[in-house]
Amino acid sequence: MLAAAATIALITFYLLNYRRRRVPKGLRLPPGPPRKPIIGNLTDMPHYRQWETFKKWHELYGDMVYLNVLGKHILFLNSSKIANELLEKRSLIYSDRPHFIMLGDLVGFDWIPTLMCYGERFRRHRQVLYQSLNSFCLDRYKLIQTKHARILLSRMLAEPEDFLNHLRYLTGAVTMELTYGIKVKPKDDPFIRTAEIVLGAAGETAAPGAFLVDIFPFMRYIPDWIPGATFQKKAKFWRYHSLRMNKEPYEIAKKAFESGSSQPSMVALSLEELSTRQQTALSDEEEIIRNCASSIYAGGADTTTSVLYVFMLAMVLFPDIQKKAHEELDLIIGPDRFPEFTDQPFLPYTTALCKEALRWHVIAPTAAPHVLTQDDIVGEYFIPAGTWVLGNSWEILHEKEVYGEDADTFNPERYFRPGVKDPIAAFGYGRRYDMPRPIPLREYLIHHYSFPSPLIHNISHTRLYTRFESKRNVYNWYILSEILVDKALLDF
Ligand code: HEM
Repeated sequence: MLAAAATIALITFYLLNYRRRRVPKGLRLPPGPPRKPIIGNLTDMPHYRQWETFKKWHELYGDMVYLNVLGKHILFLNSSKIANELLEKRSLIYSDRPHFIMLGDLVGFDWIPTLMCYGERFRRHRQVLYQSLNSFCLDRYKLIQTKHARILLSRMLAEPEDFLNHLRYLTGAVTMELTYGIKVKPKDDPFIRTAEIVLGAAGETAAPGAFLVDIFPFMRYIPDWIPGATFQKKAKFWRYHSLRMNKEPYEIAKKAFESGSSQPSMVALSLEELSTRQQTALSDEEEIIRNCASSIYAGGADTTTSVLYVFMLAMVLFPDIQKKAHEELDLIIGPDRFPEFTDQPFLPYTTALCKEALRWHVIAPTAAPHVLTQDDIVGEYFIPAGTWVLGNSWEILHEKEVYGEDADTFNPERYFRPGVKDPIAAFGYGRRYDMPRPIPLREYLIHHYSFPSPLIHNISHTRLYTRFESKRNVYNWYILSEILVDKALLDF
């Protein structure tokens, strides 16, 4: 009975989507893995270490790879040239987002601009993000980062085994303070715990095909008491936390602002600006501020933690590179003071090291899917409206023509070669790029790249390395690299 219903659903779904597949004469769809009847490439989509499969497809089919999953068109862009052509130059028609039923409608994560369609609501959110992450916030950000990098050090020295948690705490604490002016608890902070549940849910639900309800939208009406409807139970649990993440810290920051006791923060700054305006739809504006604030946590904390894991992994695997960075830090900073952001221009090797941590194991290997809003033609290829378009950042950041023949290895020195670009594809593409474009690029890059810098400065400074060495009996580099490979690399 269930099998028959599923077959009918599959056929109906296919027929509904089939009507939309019309390739004009003289054109064809881009190449890709052979498709099976009805399900298309459904069984080809990888669920584990996806970038390895995407790489094979790149080698086999070229810069544009097309798949069809149950009638849904999916296009991978595998080179910076084609990603630039479509996602940047033609961004007017390549900037929409898919409708995520599980993550957006059921889990209620629709407050993040990343999931919003390309329209007025998205643009108003991006404007607030831009206004609130202005240079005041960037300066404040640096102060908060520096403070927490030092707190991190003392935690690392006290409990080196728990370093993954310390790094997560660091990014959570920095983001909460920058965004809401909230100082989190040293352990088991409820805000960080809630955010981690929600970001875990986002990771679990965002993978294509992870939940059938995204393929068969009618499933959203299945009540949670029906046996097998576990997705509804999960959605309910995650929704509760998603709303808490969006509302609770904001309410605290708002109360502090109203009572005049707030710390300078993105929320306080935005509410201050709002209070000077004479508008009727203030609650609407407030909702945007609230959404942007929780988006900063969602967009900034987990991403940065993952880059820091990659950074630690590289430091463990490549001690010669770590040694070179130490030498530069010793030379420029010396033994008598902590490093400051103002030291950065004098630390080219350390800066290159941070860039390489972003590039080598890019933490969002395809960023988020863009959706094409009208039919398009690229050379002899036809791209139908509604296609999900993914910039294959992994391949783009390992292009041999750009990063050299050694693109797969970890080598900060590549940035000293002429023509080697900064790895900005790590932050997404076009109008959906991580942060609104008008933020001056230099400041923006510093804001991102310098994040690990105080950490490595301070790690070097306090000889954390030696500390790990002296604990060799209980905790050695081998175990450390195993944990990192497990947690940081394989889980991406
Ligand atoms: C180095 C670490 C980071 C990486 C690799 C990174 C990468 C990304 C990527 C790939 C996206 C999705 C872009 C897309 O929709 O296609 C994103 C979104 C976002 N990131 Fe970052 N990010 C990092 C750090 C940060 C930080 C530190 C902040 C804030 C202080 C931040 C704020 C945001 C926001 C607000 C969004 C959502 C923007 C939107 O959807 O319009 N990110 N990030």
